[in-house]
Amino acid sequence: MPESPQRKLIIAIDGPAGAGKSTIASRLARKLGYINLESGAMYRALALKAIEWDVSFDDEAALLRLALNSRIQLEPSVGGNRVLLDGRDVTPRVREQDVSEAASRVSVHPKVREWMVARQQEMGDTGGIVMEGRDIGTVVFPHADVKIFLDADPVIREQRRLQQQHLMGKAAEATAAELRERDRRDRTRAASPLVPAADALVLDSTGMSEDEVLQRVEELVERKRIAAG
Ligand code: DC
Repeated sequence: MPESPQRKLIIAIDGPAGAGKSTIASRLARKLGYINLESGAMYRALALKAIEWDVSFDDEAALLRLALNSRIQLEPSVGGNRVLLDGRDVTPRVREQDVSEAASRVSVHPKVREWMVARQQEMGDTGGIVMEGRDIGTVVFPHADVKIFLDADPVIREQRRLQQQHLMGKAAEATAAELRERDRRDRTRAASPLVPAADALVLDSTGMSEDEVLQRVEELVERKRIAAG
């Protein structure tokens, strides 16, 4: 008997930098045949534009105007999202240190967030997505079918980041300090701070392998898929 077509779910994965969201989100999306959207890349693209146009990261009105006049696109691909800013591929550039710092600063502004959230809702509305970020389960998709909050010990998260970027010595110290500052800002900002949704599965990946985390997430997705029919 042919299987009945399953409703395509919305899966939200939130958590701090270095918790392993991107890897889990992209592996999960691949397994399910869903698309993986990295919402942070949109804040990064706007931050890059602010750098290029010399707009202050503290000027909410100017940042909103910049956003309204920008085309930010995410294209899912095997190695993560391709990021297009006004049609230009800025994928590697938005991962650089200055943009990471700027993204954390532009994302504190409520009006910027409203604009981003509306775009993200349009992208994910039809389901069949794994969206990762900081406020996906709380604000962007409060009715997401599956909500995961992926965390890990701060020291482990720092180590993972430094290894990913092959950093040592002074560069490593600077990056670790910047990561801590971004974390603090993401968790303490007034607008949509990084907190687990009340109905999220909180997973601490500190002592877990990537495969173990993925397995736990898949088990939850399977239960929700059965429930969703
Ligand atoms: O996930 P990321 O490191 O690429 O995110 C970059 C910055 O954007 C991060 O400092 C916080 C912000 N961000 C956010 O405020 N809300 C999201 N949904 C995603 C990212």
